[in-house]
Amino acid sequence: MAETISVLYTEEQVDARIRELGETISKDYAGKSLHLICILRGSVFFACELAKRITIPVSIDFMSVSSYGDDTISSGVVKVTKDLDDVIKDRDVLVVEDIIDTGHTLGYLLDRLKARGPKSLKLCALLDKPDRREVEVNIDYTGFTIPDEFIVGYGLDYAQKYRNLPYIGIVHME
Ligand code: IMP
Ligand code: MG
Repeated sequence: MAETISVLYTEEQVDARIRELGETISKDYAGKSLHLICILRGSVFFACELAKRITIPVSIDFMSVSSYGDDTISSGVVKVTKDLDDVIKDRDVLVVEDIIDTGHTLGYLLDRLKARGPKSLKLCALLDKPDRREVEVNIDYTGFTIPDEFIVGYGLDYAQKYRNLPYIGIVHME
């Protein structure tokens, strides 16, 4: 089955929004340093762009997770396939995620990270798809709130394709 992609947010719109987020975050954490946690693989593109727009000192670490069970239904049982390299205890931590859909992944992950005793723990998501939420997740910084469509680009994939699109698009099945 072939698919086509339509543009939801252009490269310029995404870039402008990430600059705004960077400014807001830099103000909120003024005088502090911030430890970013990038959730592989989808968040890599967003996390790099965001980090470049933050003007306070930033460090970055990576974590990889995968859902157990049926790929199409987020079960909430999350397996950590690559853990953080650095300790987060007593640090100001900002988790950077590409999209919050059902909320199962981040709901689980934030609980686990909180147990490690960070000084603060917040969440920044490029996209929020609230119509699909099953687990309540508090998103501190949101790029765009989007309708219930399947999204690709800017790190998001459809069967591992389209992550490298410089814009955010909607997948349409032909
Ligand atoms: P959640 O546990 O349902 O919130 O799942 C979040 C994960 O599902 C994201 O990190 C993405 O990897 C994936 N995901 C959810 N919606 C989309 C989408 O529209 N496009 C691509 N990936 C998505
Ligand atoms: Mg993801």
